[in-house]
Amino acid sequence: MKAFYSIPLLLPSLISALPSDSAEVELDRKACVSFKNPVTKDTGCCDTVTAELFWVDILLGLGVCCPLGQVLDGFNCVAPTSNGSTCTGEPVCPNKTGTDIGIKYSHCYVLLSLNNNYLGHDSGTKYVVNGENPGVVFRVCGDTTDCTTSADQYVATNGTWYMQDQFGDPNGSGFAWLGGSGDLSIQNSSSSALVVGGSTTCFGGSCAICISFPPGGAHAPCPLAPGQSHLGIASNPNSCQNFYWQEVPCRSEK
Ligand SMILES: *[C@@H]1O[C@H](CO)[C@@H](O)[C@H](O)[C@H]1NC(C)=O
Ligand SMILES: *[C@@H]1O[C@H](CO)[C@@H](O)[C@H](O)[C@H]1NC(C)=O
Ligand SMILES: *[C@@H]1O[C@H](CO)[C@@H](O)[C@H](O)[C@H]1NC(C)=O
Ligand SMILES: *[C@@H]1O[C@H](CO)[C@@H](O)[C@H](O)[C@H]1NC(C)=O
Ligand SMILES: *[C@@H]1O[C@H](CO)[C@@H](O)[C@H](O)[C@H]1NC(C)=O
Repeated sequence: MKAFYSIPLLLPSLISALPSDSAEVELDRKACVSFKNPVTKDTGCCDTVTAELFWVDILLGLGVCCPLGQVLDGFNCVAPTSNGSTCTGEPVCPNKTGTDIGIKYSHCYVLLSLNNNYLGHDSGTKYVVNGENPGVVFRVCGDTTDCTTSADQYVATNGTWYMQDQFGDPNGSGFAWLGGSGDLSIQNSSSSALVVGGSTTCFGGSCAICISFPPGGAHAPCPLAPGQSHLGIASNPNSCQNFYWQEVPCRSEK
């Protein structure tokens, strides 16, 4: 009985253990992907058989090579079930009230409205709460040319940042930026990315951040169905738009 079952189990491993020389070379070449670490600037080769390369900027060849099964948290590789802040589902809170607002540079977040709908894209290129494609992942970048600026540091009270849109333009390529005017929309170019600020607040015991677009504030530019809202710049800096910020793993650029 034993021998009967062991034959079909052994056969596939015997076949794959006999590769031709050319197949072996091909496999080696495929498994090694060159990359440059965006933080250390070290260059290396990521063996994609035993590791996973997360592209931070695919055009510049910047990426982080993580052991298989781990995910990118900022620029660090972590186990996805780690007890860090990534993916707890809890809205982020200030580390020290009056000093920071709770989000960290180079980390990634999804934004939940007060009525529990995620900020995302509509069927076009506008940002909308409770639209056709909710849950866009945003990286908080201190600089549009270098997302490693102030990596892992909390955004200070009065601090500003840019929102890298890790879904990008559906008709474009790579990551994009939150910006524009009127109903804010996906920007291919970082030159039209908007600088964002935020103040801490809370609702029902959960921390939230009310975002604005300095030197102005933020406001929904036009009426939409209840539960839906676009993003827009307000001339009054007191006006802002509230969101619960939940940390999620950053995405790899394709
Ligand atoms: C995660 O952290 C919280 C707060 O520090 C702690 O209460 C909880 O036991 C931790 N969970 C695990 C699985 O380590
Ligand atoms: C968070 O707050 C604690 C306690 O105030 C402090 O020791 C720590 O340095 C802060 N972390 C960061 C990253 O600022
Ligand atoms: C993408 O391009 C198609 C074809 O031009 C167009 O119909 C569609 O509206 C575009 N989508 C976005 C999100 O711009
Ligand atoms: C924030 O900016 C305001 C106005 O410029 C200033 O009065 C306040 O001290 C600043 N707060 C911090 C924590 O930097
Ligand atoms: C982004 O670039 C793509 C490809 O060139 C283009 O189709 C799309 O319209 C651009 N999107 C915006 C918002 O300019």
